[in-house]
Amino acid sequence: MARQKQRIAFVCTACGAEHMQWQGQCTDCGEWNSLSKISLGTAAAPVPALGYAGSASEVRSLADVEAEETVRIGTGFGELDRVLGGGLVPGSVVLMGGDPGAGKSTLLLQVCTGLAATTPVLYVTGEESLQQLALRARRLELPLDALRVASETRGEEIAALVSRERPGVLVLDSIQVMQLASVESTPGTVSQVRETAAFFTRLAKQTGTVVIMVGHVTKEGSLAGPKVLEHMIDCFMMLDSPAGSRYRTLRGIKNRFGEVNELGIFAMTEHGMREVANPSAIFLQRGEIDSPGSVVTVTWEGTRPLLVELQALVDGVQSGYARRVAVGLDQQRLAMHLAVLHRHCGITLADQDVFANVVGGVRIAETGADLAALLAVLSSFRNRVLPRDLIVFGELGLTGEVRPVTSGQQRLAEARKHGFRVAIVPWSNRPKEPLPGMAVHGVKSLSGALEVIASL
Ligand code: TYD
Ligand code: MG
Repeated sequence: MARQKQRIAFVCTACGAEHMQWQGQCTDCGEWNSLSKISLGTAAAPVPALGYAGSASEVRSLADVEAEETVRIGTGFGELDRVLGGGLVPGSVVLMGGDPGAGKSTLLLQVCTGLAATTPVLYVTGEESLQQLALRARRLELPLDALRVASETRGEEIAALVSRERPGVLVLDSIQVMQLASVESTPGTVSQVRETAAFFTRLAKQTGTVVIMVGHVTKEGSLAGPKVLEHMIDCFMMLDSPAGSRYRTLRGIKNRFGEVNELGIFAMTEHGMREVANPSAIFLQRGEIDSPGSVVTVTWEGTRPLLVELQALVDGVQSGYARRVAVGLDQQRLAMHLAVLHRHCGITLADQDVFANVVGGVRIAETGADLAALLAVLSSFRNRVLPRDLIVFGELGLTGEVRPVTSGQQRLAEARKHGFRVAIVPWSNRPKEPLPGMAVHGVKSLSGALEVIASL
């Protein structure tokens, strides 16, 4: 009998695009050396009896389809529910990524022991032994009785456990150690992770089980990058652990059932992960001494404000070319705004190194911090301390205009609550009525903002 031909393809670990042959550069995203070989199974692979959603296909009128509000499962952690968009949706697949040691296993163990009281939960660990798991749960004084646990890495075996236990929630810790016997690659490779994730996604849709996958993901997205999985899962969140901080931020990156860019904030304590109830100013730990290069902004993360300090350092060029380094901010945007500063305000930093940083290791994903970042840079450049009670927000356009941002009034209210008395905001975000105890300067352009600064 002729040997069945193994079909292979190449998938880009940076963007998830598939290619039929190997090439040095991904033609979809332009990344070099990012293609990884995957097997598509044998050409004669049997067609699955059931479709993706677990039922035989049938064409109906859209009006006849009953749209029930799905009942979400609360995780017991408000901050996690917020990122999920209000709890877990039955049959959905959630990927929780993060650096090793971020606290993914700890958080999920806390969630699962709590959930198990009302919903059957199966926690499958392939990384730790059951003893380690039990030890941790005991140390954290979590309720142990209801949670079902297994130590397993074989996908088919886990599927058998699921059909026996019928859990409402299944945790796979982590997807990188899981494997399918039918895929001939080592665990953790793109091939294996992709096929295993697809296998469990199908299982989730067919059984209505919530599948939560843990993925060790570095910030660069290496280790079978999340991009490879992103299109099949429903919700992708990253647990970030800023260096040296006990705070952890959980950020929604993709969510079919809720808002993206929601931010949940936790603190890692000796009693496990704790929610931070009022996080709006936890990253605002300013020193006693006022120094140039510091400006506080209020960003809007999903559905709530967050006060953060931006710092900049401007210094004469040290080596050959001028450096622009931004940590927690978009480096390209910073370079762009330095050009705006030159073109529209005549201030050049061409012979200066520019460093910008968001204090506390937060990453700002929105444009509302543009103006504040640039004012921090100027403050450092001119060696001029800005008032301690000044708050700045606004987006900067290439024409030098200051553009409005969402939720301006809520941002102002939050800043006022934390004792800020002077604000520089986009013209259209200025309040209709004067705010008691706060001088709000609405500006239309960058030069307008500089005039306000000069008058303070
Ligand atoms: P863990 O949940 O194992 O991380 P991940 O699954 O994301 O790799 O968390 C491990 C880290 O958390 C480890 O550095 C120890 C710390 N930790 C605490 O500080 N307090 C605790 O109560 C626990 C359980 C862990
Ligand atoms: Mg872990």
